[in-house]
Amino acid sequence: MNIILLGPPGAGKGTQARKLVEERGMIQLSTGDMLREAKTSGTDMGKKVAAIMDAGELVTDEIVIGLIEEKLRGDNAGGFIFDGFPRTLAQADALGALLEKTGQTLHSVIEMRVDDDALVSRITGRFTCGNCGEGYHDVMKRPAVDGTCDVCGAQDMQRRADDNEESLRTRLMEYYKKTSPLIGYYYAKGQLKDVDGLADIDDVAKSISEALG
Ligand code: AP5
Repeated sequence: MNIILLGPPGAGKGTQARKLVEERGMIQLSTGDMLREAKTSGTDMGKKVAAIMDAGELVTDEIVIGLIEEKLRGDNAGGFIFDGFPRTLAQADALGALLEKTGQTLHSVIEMRVDDDALVSRITGRFTCGNCGEGYHDVMKRPAVDGTCDVCGAQDMQRRADDNEESLRTRLMEYYKKTSPLIGYYYAKGQLKDVDGLADIDDVAKSISEALG
C-alpha cells in the first residue's frame, strides 16, 4: 500500500510516518530528510539547496522528483509513505506517472488538519535525536532523561535551522500557495481522507489506521 501524508509544516507527518514504519513495516520516503542528508554531507546538490531550505522556500521540482524517482526503483515490500512529497501540482503529476511506470498504485492521501497556532508551538519546540531521528518537543514530548534519546540512548539532540518563526512563516506561505491545491487534486481523484491532526499523537495514529482500513 502506497500512501501520501499531506499537511503543513508541523502537522505531524514525520511523527506518524515513523509509527507506520514500526507498525506496518512501510518505507518512509521523506524528501525533507533526503535533502537535509545531502546538506549535511556537503554534496553539490546539498550546497545548492541549503540556503533555500533554511529560508523555508521550496526546492525545485526537478531536484525532488529526481530523489523520489531513485527511491521508487528500490524495495517496496511494505509500501511507501510519501512524507513531504508531493508539494506542488507538478510533483503530484510526476508521482502519478512514476507510479504508473513502475506498476504501482496510490492507495490513499491522508490530509492532516491542524491550525496555524498549534503549528508555531510545535515547530519552535521541536528537537530530534541526531542518531536515530526520533522526534521530541520541549513541552509535549520530552525524553525521560533530559538530552538522552528514549529510543537509542544517544546524547545528540538537534534543532533544525528552519525551525524558527521567520522561516516558518515562509514555509506556511509556500504550503498555502503551492501545496494546498493538492487537497482538491486528490479529492477529485477520490483518494483524499482527512484526519484531525490536533488530537494526541496516538489518537491521530488510530484515525490514520482507520482511514487506511
Ligand atoms: P520537511 O522536512 O518536509 O518539513 P515540513 O513539511 O516543513 O514538515 P516538518 O518536518 O516540519 O513537520 P512534520 O509535519 O513532519 O511534523 P513532525 O512530525 O516533525 O521539509 C523541509 C524543507 O525541505 C522544506 O521547507 C523545503 O525547503 C524542502 N523540501 C522538502 N520536501 C520538498 C518537496 N517535496 N519539494 C520542494 N521542497 C521540499 O511534528 C512536529 C512537532 O510536533 C514535533 O515536535 C512532534 O513531536 C510534535 N507533534 C507531532 N504530532 C503531534 C500531535 N498530534 N500532538 C502534539 N505534538 C505533536
